[in-house]
Amino acid sequence: MGKDITVTGDRPTGKLHIGHYVGSLVTRLDLQEKYGNNLVFIADMQALTDNFNDPLKVRTNTLEVCLDWLAVGLKPERNTFFIQSLVPELTEFTVLYMNLVSLGRLERNPTVKTEMKQKGFGVDGNPVPMGFLCYPISQAADITAFKANIVPTGEDQNPMIEQTNEIVRRFNNIYNCDVLVECHTLLSHTQRLPGIDGSSKMGKSMNNAIYLCEESSSLTEKINRMYTDPNHLHVSDPGTVEGNMVFTYLDAFDPSKEELEELKAHYRRGGLGDMVLKKRLNGIMQDFIRPIRERRNEFEKDKGEVLNILLKGSQVAREIAANTLSEVKKAMYMDY
Ligand code: TRP
Repeated sequence: MGKDITVTGDRPTGKLHIGHYVGSLVTRLDLQEKYGNNLVFIADMQALTDNFNDPLKVRTNTLEVCLDWLAVGLKPERNTFFIQSLVPELTEFTVLYMNLVSLGRLERNPTVKTEMKQKGFGVDGNPVPMGFLCYPISQAADITAFKANIVPTGEDQNPMIEQTNEIVRRFNNIYNCDVLVECHTLLSHTQRLPGIDGSSKMGKSMNNAIYLCEESSSLTEKINRMYTDPNHLHVSDPGTVEGNMVFTYLDAFDPSKEELEELKAHYRRGGLGDMVLKKRLNGIMQDFIRPIRERRNEFEKDKGEVLNILLKGSQVAREIAANTLSEVKKAMYMDY
């Protein structure tokens, strides 16, 4: 088991929210206890594939995301934190892998397809940037350069893992070697937390996310406008639990599953008001976010040190990637 290597990246396009926490950060916290081989990185090159016209946003959020990692308790001693663009070897891997992937295969990647629609690429005659279309190949580079076999991410990343493994198999087969390693995802127990409005995704643009550094007053305000059961007009009315965001969030965060089941039964019967539930959720979420916010404020006082952590880790990551790259090039007769 000592040989397990995990890698995961976050796009630096905004501060991390509680959806990131239940979907991925919680798994990373678990992994840092188990292994000392975790690589966690800022996917700034990938973020640029759809934010190339706003490089300052990517730059600013690089530090913000790292602050969120530290705030939730990810430790630089147990993980290698790095910045993707500081490991230029990854770009070389990407170019070599491009020969092994067809245009059609990229266009069929379900996550790419969904994101193209969201971003308007290829819609109404809008162009599709090549960098964007090819990002699954660069993601394969991120994973294989470190010979990672475990990738802790959300379900939406499954198509990326599949494509990575296709590249691994093709590479090893064509170049008659076993340099590259196949990987699998590690999903967390809670999949995708919807936004407070009940829409499927939490996002900045939709103003429906709760951030890990959310201030106490805005947290309360967000919980108060959370989407519940629109047909639950009077306290005495029977209510619906499914699709009711207060229950969805309680499912993810309430420490007492027993009490929660009783509350659900009561709500279904009628006689339990939304405000009572929202108060309970508010208490739980305040207790969850307070220590994270406070730790973040501490780390924020020395941003230079946070950047240093990333710079140091990037050197370590670069060495590993360079080693794998020379094996890859050797297999391709490029070991001049
Ligand atoms: N695509 C991932 C996301 O949007 C980020 C990412 C880039 C990543 N490279 C990776 C995740 C490698 C895991 C492994 O969240």
